[in-house]
Amino acid sequence: MRADVLVRGISQLVTAQGAEPKRGAAMRELRVVERAALAIADGKFAWVGPQRDWSGEAASIVDAGGRAVVPGLVDPHTHAVWTGDRLADFEARLQGVAYEEILARGGGIRSTIRATAAATEEQLVALARPRIAALVRSGATTIEVKSGYGYSVEAELRMLRAIHALAAQAPAWIVPTLLIHVPPAEAAEREEYVKAVCEEMIPAAAREKLAQAVDVFVEKEAWSAAEAERMLTAARAQGLRMKLHTEQFHRVGGLELGVRMGATSVDHLEACSEEQIAVLAASATVATILPGVTLHLGLPAAPGRKLIDAGAAVAVGTDLNPGSSPLYSMQMALALAVRLNGLTAQEALIAGTANAAAALGLRDAGRIEVGLPADFSVLHGADWRELVYALGVNPVRDVWIGGQKVESAA
Ligand code: NIG
Ligand code: FE
Repeated sequence: MRADVLVRGISQLVTAQGAEPKRGAAMRELRVVERAALAIADGKFAWVGPQRDWSGEAASIVDAGGRAVVPGLVDPHTHAVWTGDRLADFEARLQGVAYEEILARGGGIRSTIRATAAATEEQLVALARPRIAALVRSGATTIEVKSGYGYSVEAELRMLRAIHALAAQAPAWIVPTLLIHVPPAEAAEREEYVKAVCEEMIPAAAREKLAQAVDVFVEKEAWSAAEAERMLTAARAQGLRMKLHTEQFHRVGGLELGVRMGATSVDHLEACSEEQIAVLAASATVATILPGVTLHLGLPAAPGRKLIDAGAAVAVGTDLNPGSSPLYSMQMALALAVRLNGLTAQEALIAGTANAAAALGLRDAGRIEVGLPADFSVLHGADWRELVYALGVNPVRDVWIGGQKVESAA
């Protein structure tokens, strides 16, 4: 074999295997190759195995220096495009005012909507770029980015166009989602807005190929399950995937709706009941948990341990956003999932790679496997578990995306 690059001197190479989402005990089944090497050709993995078994030729050789290699992480849930800040909200929360209360008073998400409405597409891209760069430094090579801070068909499509422009400039693979976040403050305007979403916004996003999925926030302070059903039905009719922000604070039917409609993922789940854990475990929907929110809002942790024990496929994301999770590191999200949601190191790795890819409907990300894009990270240490161990320093040294080294802390 003739490869473009051979990376050798890898102490341990670790990866999930196979494109199917991993559920229950399968979330602990990793392939670990000791003293490994990997070869890259045309931006893809061309060979992976014990170094002593390599017999090909490579145009260039990189020595990993006895360090561990992990797959490129997949962040399946971010709101990386926004303007303004939520520092006043943060102050209020530190004084004891609840996140939902701030939202009900017209602040929170609504204040970010007002700020974002005033920004140009170029400003949105410029602000998002360093956020994506931070996620990449943390080992993320595929990143979902949602709209959701627009408040009209035009504003939401502008956000999606900004995400599209960002995707063309970012070193990572960007997966765009149209998020229908909060309803108009005036109850009388809700019906009209739902209609506009179903009849104009979703068809336009599909026609212009600006989104792969539609996400709806189902919550007391946001949309009802019945409203979400109409919007997700419109999404499905356009061939888009369905996702929900749900069971974050209250149980108002979002999880059951997602499972019944065949949503690709349901995200948050902090308020998920025992019965709902069973419902989710029996479905094909991925359970995406967001430990940054638990840390930042002081919410109960989503029942990651129980979901896995019940047989669900669990993914982890940063939920990077200014209000509930200013978390700019996918590595840290995994480190928190181990501590706050009770995942093992093995489960966290799968939750941030293969299962996070499944939460986006992707079959070609999050694994080191011949034929897939060569997305991986070299850690500073020799043991891959440092990925979920370190707090406050970045255990990720070099990040490779599509066979190119895009980040190096060496
Ligand atoms: O995932 N809960 C709703 N949406 C976001 C928060 C967005 C914001 O606070 O700006 C979330 O937590
Ligand atoms: Fe979110």
